[in-house]
Amino acid sequence: MEALLDTCIQVPSALERNADDVVARVLSHEWVNSEYKHLILDAPDPAPRSLAGQFFNIECPSTESDKPFFRRPMSTYKADPQSGTVEFLYKVTGAGTRGLATLVTGQDVRILGPLGIGFRLAEDWRNIVVLGRGVGLATLAPLAETAASRGVTVTAVLSARNPARVMSVERFRDSGAQVEVVLDSDGTSAPANVEAMLRRLAEDGRADAFFTCGSNRLMLLMQRLGRELGIPGQVAMEQQMACGLGMCFCCVRTFKSGNATVSRRVCWEGPVFDLQEPLSW
Ligand SMILES: Cc1cc2nc3c(=O)[nH]c(=O)nc-3n(C[C@H](O)[C@H](O)[C@H](O)COP(=O)(O)OP(=O)(O)OC[C@H]3O[C@@H](n4cnc5c(N)ncnc54)[C@H](O)[C@@H]3O)c2cc1C
Ligand code: FES
Repeated sequence: MEALLDTCIQVPSALERNADDVVARVLSHEWVNSEYKHLILDAPDPAPRSLAGQFFNIECPSTESDKPFFRRPMSTYKADPQSGTVEFLYKVTGAGTRGLATLVTGQDVRILGPLGIGFRLAEDWRNIVVLGRGVGLATLAPLAETAASRGVTVTAVLSARNPARVMSVERFRDSGAQVEVVLDSDGTSAPANVEAMLRRLAEDGRADAFFTCGSNRLMLLMQRLGRELGIPGQVAMEQQMACGLGMCFCCVRTFKSGNATVSRRVCWEGPVFDLQEPLSW
């Protein structure tokens, strides 16, 4: 019975979510390194009201070689209701993102969103740690800004293959975050080193909550430390999606809730979940 109830966890209704399928116009679309592009769109409401951790399902243009049938989910990298803009930072990986990469300034693109449940900040959290890698940094950057705007001190641990792959450092710093970069190229991203950093932050009283995105390995590390040290947290999950609206069930992953193992749709009950709940695969 517990498992059954858990599959029906309380989430906002479709009407409460305020998503819409809108046509946005490309304002700027630049490479930030050899793998990632930064897309800035002029978009009508409700797109620029997207909150940290929410995402959009984006219609990716077809090319001569790629016909991406489904839309692709992308986290909100930045959303600004004042300027009416919404931004994405994405890695050019396969058919969808190769098509997306062809968009030029002035072109229109359909985006559905904002979708999903984003990050939550408890009133009594004064210091948080965000730990991200790769595309996870795109998801965590707006969280750092939201936290800072509420007077929360942020330590951002950014993991990357090498210095050329570290993104958004200035964005995190501009928000007031203390930034620590860890790299594969010099061995500082090794789990033992990251664990030691997180333990130090906890000992120094700088970790009321943990947040992570972009790496299963880092998620498992934060999960274990959070459990051991009694630090709550959240993780933004990635999963291949089709509808993005909770209807097709193609994004289901398994989670633990108490003693039960339950199935949840990443697009609808997430993509942000309690750090202790996701099961690795
Ligand atoms: C909520 C959410 C937010 C996301 N935000 C971002 C973002 O901000 N920036 C960004 O670069 N990416 C983000 N992604 C991932 C992005 O949607 C995928 O990179 C994209 O779907 C890949 O599409 P593609 O057309 O390039 O590759 P495809 O041709 O669809 O796939 C290429 C390969 O990657 C695998 N793959 C595709 N998507 C995923 C996935 N989600 N997880 C694991 N393997 C996958 C496929 O199996 C295939 O082997 C997000 C995903 C989710 C669910
Ligand atoms: S993508 Fe269709 S239910 Fe999640």
